[in-house]
Order: sequence, then C-alpha cells, then structure tokens
Amino acid sequence: MLLFKTAEALKSHLSPLYEKGQIGLVPTMGALHRGHMALVERAVRNNDHVVVSIFVNPTQFDDKNDLDNYPQTLNADMKLLEDVSKSIMIFAPTAAEVYQNNITAKAYDFEGLDRVMEGAFRADHFNGVGTIVETLLRLVAPNTAYFGEKDYQQLQIIKKMVASQNLPVTIIGCPIVREASGLAMSSRNERLSKAMRKDAAFIYKTLLAAKKIFGTKSAKNTVQWVSEQFQEHPALDLEYIEISNSETLTPVLKKQQNRKYRAFVAVYAEDVRLIDNIALN
Ligand code: PAJ
Repeated sequence: MLLFKTAEALKSHLSPLYEKGQIGLVPTMGALHRGHMALVERAVRNNDHVVVSIFVNPTQFDDKNDLDNYPQTLNADMKLLEDVSKSIMIFAPTAAEVYQNNITAKAYDFEGLDRVMEGAFRADHFNGVGTIVETLLRLVAPNTAYFGEKDYQQLQIIKKMVASQNLPVTIIGCPIVREASGLAMSSRNERLSKAMRKDAAFIYKTLLAAKKIFGTKSAKNTVQWVSEQFQEHPALDLEYIEISNSETLTPVLKKQQNRKYRAFVAVYAEDVRLIDNIALN
C-alpha cells in the first residue's frame, strides 16, 4: 500500500510518473463509503495512476463540534482502496503538514456561487474547500480530478476556482450514489439511528415527487409543495429547499426553455444535517 504523509514524499513518488500516463486525483475526507468508491473506481478505470487524498480539512468546518466528531477511519479506508487497486497512492497528511502553522482559508471570488444554499448557511465553508482543493491540485498536478454531484454546489465552485486560477486539470462530476432506500450515501448517515435512517429516505422520495410536479407547476409552487411535505413530517426539519439554475445556482424565478434546473435541500434529522439534490429536467 502506498501511503504518503508528507507532500515531499508524495511529490518524489509522483515525479517520474507524469511522463508515463494520465494521473487522476480523488480528494476526500475519508470515512469512505460506496459514494466515494464510485469516484475512485472511475478514476482507476480512466487513469494510469490515481491519488486519493484523505484529509479532514479544518478550514471548511464552521462548527468546531462537527470537525471534532468527524469520523477518522484510515485503516478501514486503506483496506477499501487496496481492494480496488494496490497501486493507488493515498495522501493522508496532518493539518500542520498542509497548512504549516497558518490554518486559514484564502478568500476567493466565486462570483456569487458561494452566497446561496450551503454558502449562506455555512459561513466561509467554500473558501476552506477552495483552499484545500487548490492546494491538492497544485501538489498532485493531475490530468483529471473527480468530485460527486452529492455536493453539487461544491462541484460548481471547484469548476469556477479551477477556471479562475487557470489550473490545467479537467474536473469530472460523478452521479450521486444512494442507499437502497434512496438516501444519498454520506458518512453522516452512520450517526442516524436505525429508525431515523428509515425516515430519511423521505428526502429523496420527496425530491422525486418534486421533479414530477415541476414538470407542470411553477418553481414557486414546487418549493411550496416540498416545504409542506416536510412540515408534515415530524422527524425531519427542512433547513432550505431551493430550485436553481444548474449552472449559476441562482434561484429560478420563471422557468425558461433550454435551461437546466435542480432542486436542492438541507434537512436536519435529529442533530445530523443531510443534503441532497436532483436534476429536474
Ligand atoms: P467528502 O465529503 O469526503 O467527499 C469526497 C467526495 O466524494 C466529494 O466529491 C463528494 O461529493 C463525493 N461524494 C460523497 N458522497 C457521495 C455520494 N453519495 N455519491 C457520489 N459522490 C459522493 O467533499 C469533501 O469530502 C470535501 O469537501 C473535499 C472536496 C475533499 C475537500 O476537503
């Protein structure tokens, strides 16, 4: 197993590989599940060399408690990765290695992509994401990097950051992997009680129904309908529902032809915050 704890060690292993083929990068915070593994498998299929980073990035957490409670399961993660390919390079640095003694995020201009939804509810979150992803992309210099549509807003923001920094990398968005119930896979699902995990399947069921409704009704009516569904659900607390342009993430006021729209939700199930989204057309 190729485990690297320092940027220097990873760099020296990578340097002869650039002329030997394509390099893929999958950034993660570990506690790997099938959602992550779908990105890793795609990277392994489409590249000659793959780096998976495992790093719980402190600058993207607005809640210290959330950061302290984030699951760290490096040995189990390594085993899962090894089962896919023994030649995957795992980069698992410490915060001191990544940030030296300055654990702060850079301030980006994401042109408004960061002011809605997750950005509106989680102060500075996307500056932290941008900072670590830019650092990883500059260090690994991959041809391609893989991100999940589970965090669709993050994916759009990373595409914006890569374009504005002129980084020579292709960003690939991968579809959301779900549990059999429809619940989007997330390391946070482990914190749900058995009953709550069942209840949480309601989130995707409601998104699917919203997609149907959006076919004939306005965005406003669809948003209202979704809000009402959650009001009637005793165990789930809707933080937001937005229907937005898939590119710009601005809320849709009036549907237009040839535009792609998506619905986005954040929901509290007990104290666990879950997000999900769906393409509406
Ligand atoms: P993390 O939550 O570990 O997710 C790593 C990658 O896996 C992200 O691109 C995320 O969108 C994707 N992913 C998670 N669950 C998924 C699912 N059910 N289906 C498809 N893809 C899924 O997102 C982060 O880490 C961090 O913000 C990171 C980009 C690593 C920067 O720190």
